[in-house]
Amino acid sequence: MSAKFKLKNRENWIKFPLDRLSLDPNLMRNFLSSCPEISEDLVRTISSFVGQREYSFYLDEDQLGLALVNQKPLYIDIKTTLNYHREIYHKKGYKNEPFYKSIKSASMKVIDITCGMMSDSLLMNYWGFKVQAFEANPITSCLILNALKIHPLENFKFIPREFSWDLMDESVAFYDPFFRKDKEKTSPKKSMQVLRDFDKFSFLNRPLEIEKVVVKRPKGSDEIWEKAHHQYHGKSVRYDVYQST
Ligand SMILES: C[S@@+](CC[C@H](N)C(=O)[O-])C[C@H]1O[C@@H](n2cnc3c(N)ncnc32)[C@H](O)[C@@H]1O
Repeated sequence: MSAKFKLKNRENWIKFPLDRLSLDPNLMRNFLSSCPEISEDLVRTISSFVGQREYSFYLDEDQLGLALVNQKPLYIDIKTTLNYHREIYHKKGYKNEPFYKSIKSASMKVIDITCGMMSDSLLMNYWGFKVQAFEANPITSCLILNALKIHPLENFKFIPREFSWDLMDESVAFYDPFFRKDKEKTSPKKSMQVLRDFDKFSFLNRPLEIEKVVVKRPKGSDEIWEKAHHQYHGKSVRYDVYQST
């Protein structure tokens, strides 16, 4: 299941090169006044994430996108994604989906540790879960904050910071870390390639006391921790379920 991302032409977009954003006061001022949903503190942390490749934010009226020099901007479109889920699940329902079965609980509350481009978060939110989502990468966090400004969600709280287990205040967590590049068997879709260009987070350790942690893995890959208590298999991914011991 994937979210829909629109790739628009870039002619009318205003460009904010990431490597200059926090160094150029005029650029910063313009950016912050165009995107009041984003804090200056968050923008200041971006410089430590900018790698070798020349990414820029692009702004088209209210919509914030991200792209390399020759790409069309990539952005999160919550409305289109939710319409897509509605279309898919309207007739066939979702209660037999491996992902749904892996995360369901009596409370219907879940922490999404790795929000990324929001695909999984939006799916869980659409399925009726109350979601608290974290994202450690400030660049991705800016896209998320912008998407939520354009299309606010009920039962959804976003926290633009790195997750650690001491922040866990629900009984179920969903974790979708990147697979190590050298072990990847299939090439990731475009939005994931972008996220991975900035990825520098190591795997969290397994918490023994959390009631349930669901880890999403590519099919055929190793478990990130020891053997999972249950597994649910999708077409290309697997959900490893760990329960408190
Ligand atoms: C594979 S992507 C997740 C994709 C996401 N499930 C989606 O549907 O778009 C991993 C994301 O988690 C973020 N991340 C990795 N470790 C994290 C941590 N400890 N806390 C918060 N975010 C983290 C990365 O910055 C990246 O955006």
